[in-house]
Amino acid sequence: MKTTISFSAPAEVETESLVAVVLDHAEPVANEKEKDKKPELKVASADPAVQSAAAGLLASGEVTGKAFETNLLHKPPGLQAKRLLLVSGGSAKKFSSYDLRRIAGTAVRTLKTRAMRSFAFVAPLGIPAEEAVRAIVEGACVGNFEPDYYRSDRKDQKIDDLTIVVAAGDEVRLSKAAEESQIVGESQNFTRDLVNEPSNRMTPTILGERAKKMSTEVGLKCEVYGADKIKELKMGAFWSVAQGSDEPPALIVMKYEPASAPEKPVLGLVGKGITFDTGGISIKPADGMEKMKSDMAGGATMIGAMRAIALLKPKVKVIGIVCATENMPSGKAQKPGDVQVAMSGKTIEIINTDAEGRLVLADGLYYARQLGCTHLVDAATLTGAVVVALGHHIAGVFTNDDLLYERFRSANAKAGEKMWRMPLDDEYKEQIRSSIADIVNSGGRWGGAITAAMFLKEFAEETPWIHLDIAGTAWLDEQKPWIAKGPSGIALRSVVEFVKGFAQ
Ligand code: BES
Ligand code: MN
Ligand code: ZN
Repeated sequence: MKTTISFSAPAEVETESLVAVVLDHAEPVANEKEKDKKPELKVASADPAVQSAAAGLLASGEVTGKAFETNLLHKPPGLQAKRLLLVSGGSAKKFSSYDLRRIAGTAVRTLKTRAMRSFAFVAPLGIPAEEAVRAIVEGACVGNFEPDYYRSDRKDQKIDDLTIVVAAGDEVRLSKAAEESQIVGESQNFTRDLVNEPSNRMTPTILGERAKKMSTEVGLKCEVYGADKIKELKMGAFWSVAQGSDEPPALIVMKYEPASAPEKPVLGLVGKGITFDTGGISIKPADGMEKMKSDMAGGATMIGAMRAIALLKPKVKVIGIVCATENMPSGKAQKPGDVQVAMSGKTIEIINTDAEGRLVLADGLYYARQLGCTHLVDAATLTGAVVVALGHHIAGVFTNDDLLYERFRSANAKAGEKMWRMPLDDEYKEQIRSSIADIVNSGGRWGGAITAAMFLKEFAEETPWIHLDIAGTAWLDEQKPWIAKGPSGIALRSVVEFVKGFAQ
């Protein structure tokens, strides 16, 4: 997708379709009695020609103003554009760049299926121009992605050209914002492509090859190690999962070390790369197991994040590590009761072979520290329990460092992704105590997302660390107006923004 910034009056822009946001300026409904109250709809543009082109429709009573409602006008009077698409954004009072991202995605998905390949989006009043440009470009990229890769009738409809019409601003800055957001949006789609692939087409080896190819393209150092190196490094926890599969595992290490960056900090991005999670000997039920092809989403997030970082060039060192393997039952698979020795030397009693993500991450986090990482972030589709706690809309954040959390929280807010901090507390350690080894790999049912994070904390130890449990948010079971169903690419934008924050 090509993006252009335009300072023309919206009415003068020649385009397949002009897109404008409609906002409801009525006071939010306070009680039942008011629920029939009429919306007060206005186009969020100062251009009188756009307002008057929309006036008839907005006055007709046909438009509710509810978020993501779309109305397409042909040959809008007084506009150079062939069409005017009005996308409702809900209440004007609550409207933010978070909503704007989704509105831009909705516009893309509405127009591309109507055979349009380009459009011009009028940046709405009320949001600072640079913030608006970022939200529109990111949202448009997200909306442009389709997962129907293997359908013979795949239409491959895409928006190729996006013009963003802004009232005023510094052209150089706004163009740079558009360019950077496009890098981020395209990296998010790169991640989604990896997650979308089925496990027969996204083995650990293939994931490693994709990381290598991407690294060559963007100028990252990348090593992909196999079973020998994993054993040589004494990654007993990672290997315990890998040993059961005929597919060889891959330890993917990507390094971004710009000459201009200081020695420290070194940020470590660690991802869970289970290319298929059957559960192993503690096998999962058949229902819904196909979704476990997405159990490498955390790893794909970190590979995509490294891509974005290499292209954005922040002045900070970053190492990306992905522990990729299948989790399979077989004659070679580990069994409940087995005791494994992690790279750190800690011994782990395997209670449940389906709690495999924390095993590969235990060694991934420890290895990152060995490589000199001073701060860690991991992303993983780690627990069903986080889905019980937070559902499918909000990802869980865990940390051992309040200051680091503050940095992450502000990056996360800027990136416009929904996440919520969950607690860690030493009382939960009881649940992962073993009578035969240092620790068990499953804390049982209650507080399952927390005990999983407590397990990881044993390997992050004193290193400041953020853990993102994206089990409920990495895969969308239903499409939304702004995004296709399938892989969401959650967490990439927050991680990239977080890394950028260290470069300032
Ligand atoms: N990959 C799963 C977690 C998961 C569940 C991801 C649902 C996406 C959607 C993970 O490896 C797992 O199986 N976790 C177990 C842990 C339990 C055995 C302690 C779980 O959550 O049931
Ligand atoms: Mn599992
Ligand atoms: Zn898993």
